Amino acid sequence: MKPKYLNIKNNTAYIRDINLIDVAKEYKTPLYVFDQYELEDNMKLFVDNFKSSNFNCHTVYASKAFLVPAMCELLVKHGLWMDAVSLGDLYVAYKSGFPMDHIIFHGNNKSKAELEFAVEHNCVIVVDHLEELVLLNNICETNHKNISTMFRVNPGIDAHTHKYIQTATYVSKFGESMFDEVTIDKIMREYVNSKYVKLLGFHSHIGSQIQELEPFLLNVSKMLSFSKQIIDKYNYQLTSVNFGGGFGIPYVQNDKPLNKELTASKMVELINSLGKEIGFVPSDVYIEPGRSIVGNSCVTLYTCGDFKHTYGDKNYQFIDGGMTDNIRPALYSAEYSCDIANKMNNEKDTICDIAGKCCESGDIIIYNALIQKPEPNDILMVYATGAYNYSMASNYNNMLKPAVVFLSDNPKVVARRETLDDLLKLFK
Ligand SMILES: Cc1ncc(COP(=O)(O)O)c(C=O)c1O
Repeated sequence: MKPKYLNIKNNTAYIRDINLIDVAKEYKTPLYVFDQYELEDNMKLFVDNFKSSNFNCHTVYASKAFLVPAMCELLVKHGLWMDAVSLGDLYVAYKSGFPMDHIIFHGNNKSKAELEFAVEHNCVIVVDHLEELVLLNNICETNHKNISTMFRVNPGIDAHTHKYIQTATYVSKFGESMFDEVTIDKIMREYVNSKYVKLLGFHSHIGSQIQELEPFLLNVSKMLSFSKQIIDKYNYQLTSVNFGGGFGIPYVQNDKPLNKELTASKMVELINSLGKEIGFVPSDVYIEPGRSIVGNSCVTLYTCGDFKHTYGDKNYQFIDGGMTDNIRPALYSAEYSCDIANKMNNEKDTICDIAGKCCESGDIIIYNALIQKPEPNDILMVYATGAYNYSMASNYNNMLKPAVVFLSDNPKVVARRETLDDLLKLFK
């Protein structure tokens, strides 16, 4: 919901002692504003709670949620690894000086060029299916290069999230079912016979925006038991298990927040106790939080345009951005909440849809928002926009991608606003 260090002075929103109206004036709108303190708190929270004296615990930030070079710096500072999904992600990380052997490289349809880049830079590759493993083997044989991999399996856990972000049911496009013995057998034979491609262990990701502890624990037990079966059946020494991300965050008032500290520490406890019981305690375990590191630490600031009351009795408050900077409501009915940042203490007496300026009726950021009475040039602040907003931003209608500002002691632009000339760069 609201950023952790949000406060109100003179009816105006501040993050710590930084006036958000001043930030909007200085850097223009729409604008993504991240509180760097909260970002770093979230990184520390995972590192401090996902830890054990019996095995190595790695917090791997899922960069698909939000990636700019400034994030790479913070990840290095706090000892997090990174999950990447494309050559673009790998390139940003590489150019930012991120240690490439601390990258877990994902994707259900990796190209040869992507695999070659990942092999050259010693990333850990999460293999998705048999044909990809064969291709990877060929690349490594040609280059006489060893590579460490994990293989993505699907543990069949229904984690009650929206169907577009549920990834571990039996029909998911990601990985192979852990219950498909025939396919798993072909994969294991390929690994057993490979001179260059090493299987560290299995990877799973059971979905996103999961609000309960139980699916995470169920995933730990399924993954440990499955790994032990494979070790015994193929006499193949696995060292690692990766449990993926999916830690939910609160967006609106009724969301029950997942206790991230408890979830991370309970997972470690179970890895330890169940691992001992079944005879497989991995030496390295991984989780991949994305949303829960960046989501709540950001607000998007918009300038209000006109207020429209339709003949059909519906109210719209127009804003100077929309689905191009936040596609999630249109994509999977995601919910957000907001305030007018220069009227924080005014009574909330107006119900309206917060509508963007794109040429789509579905370009609504919040349906039936209850807000302070808006006027043109007010600054509307939408909460919890740090995850999958900037990274999913588009140029539909030739809208320009907003700038991104990090607030530490002072505001700092970490991604500049696109310009009209940026648009023309691609055209012939
Ligand atoms: C493989 C994998 N790991 C981690 C994540 C991060 O999920 P979240 O942002 O919900 O933590 C995702 C998200 O789709 C994913 O596909």
